[in-house]
Amino acid sequence: MNKGHTVTLTDNVSGKSVECEVMESVLGRSVINIQSVPSELGFFTHDPGFASTSSCTSSITYIDGRQGVLLYRGYPIEQLAERSNFLEVVYLLLHGELPSKAQWNAFNGKIRQHSMVHESIRRFISGYHHDAHPMGMLVGIVGALSTFYHDTLDINDPDHRALAAIRMIAKVPAIAADCYKFGIGQPFMYPINSLGYVQNFLQMMFAVRAEPYLPSPVAERALELMMILHADHEQNASTSTVRLAGSSGANPYACISAGMATLWGPAHGGANEAVVQMLRNISSPDEIPKYVARAKDRDDPFRLMGFGHRVYKNIDPRAKIIRQACHDLLEDLEGADQPLQPLFETALRLEEIALNDEYFIERNLYPNVDFYSGIILSALGIPLNMFTVIFAIARTAGWVAQWMELQEDSEQRIGRPQQRYVGQPLREYVPMEDRG
Ligand code: SDX
Repeated sequence: MNKGHTVTLTDNVSGKSVECEVMESVLGRSVINIQSVPSELGFFTHDPGFASTSSCTSSITYIDGRQGVLLYRGYPIEQLAERSNFLEVVYLLLHGELPSKAQWNAFNGKIRQHSMVHESIRRFISGYHHDAHPMGMLVGIVGALSTFYHDTLDINDPDHRALAAIRMIAKVPAIAADCYKFGIGQPFMYPINSLGYVQNFLQMMFAVRAEPYLPSPVAERALELMMILHADHEQNASTSTVRLAGSSGANPYACISAGMATLWGPAHGGANEAVVQMLRNISSPDEIPKYVARAKDRDDPFRLMGFGHRVYKNIDPRAKIIRQACHDLLEDLEGADQPLQPLFETALRLEEIALNDEYFIERNLYPNVDFYSGIILSALGIPLNMFTVIFAIARTAGWVAQWMELQEDSEQRIGRPQQRYVGQPLREYVPMEDRG
C-alpha cells in the first residue's frame, strides 16, 4: 500500500516511534496528522495559543504571512477591494464562487427581506444603561436573537442554517446602528431597502427623521473597503471561538455572539479603538520615541497597538490598502486642515520610526489592519466605541461562512483540547479540625 508522505516521531527514551501522515494543502504548509501520537507514544502535543497547530480543514480564506498574501476563496484581497463590493464578498465567502447576476439578485433580495429587526429587540436595547459600550450591547442582542427566531435553531437542517446565516448578515447593521442611536439618545432609524447594504447602514447610523440624508459616495466607498478587508481571516481568535462553540452544537446566534465577545479584546478586534487612543495620547511626533521605548521594555505591559500579528511577518496587505485609502479620504474630505490630519501624520511617523527600529525588525512587527482603520472610521464620523462594532459587522460574514463550513465537515467533532497538568499530585482530604 502506498505509504504516502509521512514523518516519524521517535521517543529517544523508550525508543518507540510513530509514523504520522502528512496531509497536503492546496496552498501553504501541509499538516502532520498527530491524532495517533497519544496512543502510539503516550504523549500529548503542546502548543499554547495554537501558533503551530491546524484546527480544521477549510477552503474559505488563505493567508501567507511571510509574503503578505490574503485570498478569499482564491481571489486576492487587492482585487476584491478594488473591484468588488462588500455584499458580493459575503456571497463569495458563503458560497465559494462569485455570484451570477441572477444569484446576486436573489441573494440581495433575501438580505433586504430580512434587514429589519424585531420591534421587541428594539425595546430590549432600551434596557441597557445609557452609557453601555456598544460591543457589550451587540454581544447580548445577537445572542438573544435565538430567543426570537425559533425557526432556525435546528443546526442539522440546512434550510435552518441558511436562513440563520441570512438573518445575521442582514440584521447586524440595524442592530449595530440601534446600539449607536441608543447611546446618543436619538430615535432608531429603519432600513431603506432601496439602498445598498453599506449605504443603508450609514443612513441608519447618521440619518435623523427630521432631515433627508444620504451618505457621501466617498464615505460609503471608504466603509465598503473597510468591511471587505475585515470580512474573514482564517482561524483567528474570534473565528476559532465561533468554531469551538459550533462544535458543541450551539445555535448559530450564540456562536456568533461568542465570536463577537472574543473580537472585543484589545489584542484582537479591539485594537482599532486602542490604536486611536494611543495616537491621541501621543500628543506630538516628538513623543513617539518615548512610546517606542515603552513598547520595547519587557517590564512595561504597553504594546504599540496596531503593530504585530500572529501570522503576518510582513506588512498586513490590508494595512497597505487602508493606508492609501486613509490618505485619499483625508485629502478628499478637507485636505491639510482636516482635524484628523495630525493623527494620520503621527501614525505615518510612528510607522516610519518603528519600521527602522531593530526591536521591531527582529520580531517582524509591522502595521496590521487596525493601525490605520481607526483613522478612516474617525474620518467617517464613527465614534471610538463603535470601531470594533464595525469590525464585527464585517466579520459576521466570515464567522457565518466558517460556521456553515464546520457544520458540513465530517472530520469535525466537539472541540476539547488537552492540557499539561502541573497542579498537586493525588492527596487525601483533611478535616478542618486537623488542618494547621
Ligand atoms: C487582529 O489573528 C488574526 O488574524 C487577527 C486579525 C483578524 O483579522 O482577525 O488580523 C485582527 O487582531 C490584528 C491584531 C491587532 N492587535 C494589535 O494590534 C495589538 C498589538 N499587537 C500585539 O498584541 C501582538 O502583536 C499580537 C497579539 C497581535 C500577536 O501576538 P503574538 O503573535 O503572540 O506575538 P508575541 O506576543 O509572541 O510577540 C512576539 C514578540 C514579543 O517580544 P519577545 O517576547 O520576543 O521579546 O514581539 C513583541 C512581543 O513582546 N510584540 C510587540 C508587539 N507585538 C508583539 N512589542 C511591542 N508592540 C507590539 N504591538
